[in-house]
Amino acid sequence: MLLRTLLVIAVVCAGVECRKDRKKHHGDHNPQTTSPLVRAESGTFRGSWMESRRGHKIQAYRGIRYARAPVGELRFQAPVLMTSYGAEVDATKDGPACPQPSIDGYPVDEDCLRLNVYTRDNKKRLPVVVFIHPGGFYSVSGRSDIFGPQHLLDKEVVLVTINYRLGTLGFMSTGDKYAPGNNGLKDQVAALKWVQRNIAAFGGDPNLVTLAGYSAGSFSVMLHMISPMSKGLFHRAISSSGSPISQIPIPKHQRHLAVRQAKLLNCPTDSSKAIIDCLKTKSAKEIGDSLDNMFEFGYDPVLMWMPIEEEDFGQERFLIRQPSESVCNGELHSVPYIISQTKDEFFWKAYNVLQNETLFTQMHDDWDRVAPIAFSLTGDTKTKSNRLKQAYLGGKNIANDSATIDGLGKVYSDAIIGFGVHRLANLMVAHSTQPVWSYEFTYIGNSSHFVDPVTEKPVGAAHHDDLIYLFNVSLSFPSIPVSNYSGDSNMVDLMTGFWHNFMVHGNPNPLNPALPGEFFKVWPPMTKEHSYYLPIGNKSRQVQENLFAERYRVWEELYPMDYAKCR
Ligand SMILES: *[C@@H]1O[C@H](CO)[C@@H](O)[C@H](O)[C@H]1NC(C)=O
Ligand SMILES: *[C@@H]1O[C@H](CO)[C@@H](O)[C@H](O)[C@H]1NC(C)=O
Ligand SMILES: *[C@@H]1O[C@H](CO)[C@@H](O)[C@H](O)[C@H]1NC(C)=O
Ligand SMILES: *[C@@H]1O[C@H](CO)[C@@H](O)[C@H](O)[C@H]1NC(C)=O
Ligand SMILES: *[C@@H]1O[C@H](CO)[C@@H](O)[C@H](O)[C@H]1NC(C)=O
Repeated sequence: MLLRTLLVIAVVCAGVECRKDRKKHHGDHNPQTTSPLVRAESGTFRGSWMESRRGHKIQAYRGIRYARAPVGELRFQAPVLMTSYGAEVDATKDGPACPQPSIDGYPVDEDCLRLNVYTRDNKKRLPVVVFIHPGGFYSVSGRSDIFGPQHLLDKEVVLVTINYRLGTLGFMSTGDKYAPGNNGLKDQVAALKWVQRNIAAFGGDPNLVTLAGYSAGSFSVMLHMISPMSKGLFHRAISSSGSPISQIPIPKHQRHLAVRQAKLLNCPTDSSKAIIDCLKTKSAKEIGDSLDNMFEFGYDPVLMWMPIEEEDFGQERFLIRQPSESVCNGELHSVPYIISQTKDEFFWKAYNVLQNETLFTQMHDDWDRVAPIAFSLTGDTKTKSNRLKQAYLGGKNIANDSATIDGLGKVYSDAIIGFGVHRLANLMVAHSTQPVWSYEFTYIGNSSHFVDPVTEKPVGAAHHDDLIYLFNVSLSFPSIPVSNYSGDSNMVDLMTGFWHNFMVHGNPNPLNPALPGEFFKVWPPMTKEHSYYLPIGNKSRQVQENLFAERYRVWEELYPMDYAKCR
């Protein structure tokens, strides 16, 4: 869900300067040292050297194709895993992002099924984390300028970041055999299979894989926990700020989006075959660039292309039921699980509406039509829109004032992320045989994915803000140098510290609480009786219970669910 980041990409690298600069340093890095080489099951990979934040050497193998280029006849087809490579693979540079709107030559290409592997030592057996990137299933990538390894690789771990097909090219689902759907998720499965075959040669333990994801990636992580295709491919899971179980049911197809896409590119819409045949003649760039016109109200709904519940057309199916039903059906691959959200998530959407007269007027004059789009409401949307207006805006129309910034910001946050995360945590704690930990990220540091338009300072813990500490997001934010006196630097140590603990022993708490940089003492898992969560902020790291209970009560009333029965 990263249109913001895309905008940031556009702004930061609009001039080519930042990239030019970087190239100069990169190319010259350690000219005497020979580049690292790994001989793995599927092939031989030539990498490059990088350095972690605290100066450890990192072997970086980037841009590795894990599935055949999904082009030509392979477009709209399930991925084909790469099991051998003819020659030595040049893995010294990032591959392109999958097609999406991009500016000023930022690399985007349909031949995008690539992954990056970063390791401290390919002679060891280190815990592995595979990270699934955010971006609403239609944007962003796993490239090293957004998910740089320098923070996590202060620890002895292997990090794998992956791309998967996005938008129309990844999630086209016509409800029949022509496009059964979920190709983007099947790409992720292929990447996990590649990791199982090859990661030992990079120093990773294939039996100690943590699957982590953010937003759309978090949504994906949970689906891998119930998919018949993903069983046994990972051993711990982290879902941050995204859930497939919310007020939005998983659709059986998204034919209306296929039709919308076809119309945008002047394709016929009378049959699935006609749509697919015509879209196969369009360039990936045309398809990627048309994304902005797929939305209905500004950039809403945030979740548009979605995973779907696949009917059986003879294909291998990724998702065969509603996720909640799968959980109660005993199809959950229980693993130790961390579930999280940030305090303010999508609060910045309120600023967007209030700064844009068109959006403001539409939402003000036509709440009953716009609220269901913005907040992904289903069922009796008029009653539900009104209830939300009562609960969050005191029953008043939106106005250009601070009460609306607050109320509208909260309803956006809860609708897009918060309620789903709450629902996911409750369902998991009721059914998983493994522990579930929950945290709320409240920290506001030097950088944020949203800054106040007037003061240009961060004002909330926005969606994606915890990623700034786990990864080096060099495309958008200044580097965070090591310092005992900087809150941001300490937050890097805290976040990477508990990820590391969790990867190693399936528990985010330090084995030795006296280790430097590990601030919390006891973070208990949730229980059926107590919805514990850890606020991760500037100071307060005391465990609390029932995050945003009053707000989520409203959503529970609108969309009731018995967590024991999954219905
Ligand atoms: C983050 O990445 C940039 C670009 O590669 C690099 O210049 C910077 O040193 C990195 N930051 C850290 C903390 O390693
Ligand atoms: C306001 O939103 C509309 C609808 O998304 C968009 O077309 C327009 O460019 C926006 N205006 C400004 C000034 O951003
Ligand atoms: C709301 O107020 C701000 C600040 O005064 C102004 O910049 C913005 O244009 C206003 N929005 C609308 C929709 O009038
Ligand atoms: C954290 O709290 C300290 C002490 O209250 C304050 O000086 C500092 O500015 C805060 N830092 C952040 C990032 O909020
Ligand atoms: C913000 O950056 C400044 C300059 O690098 C640094 O001195 C300060 O400690 C940083 N603040 C936090 C909260 O890390």
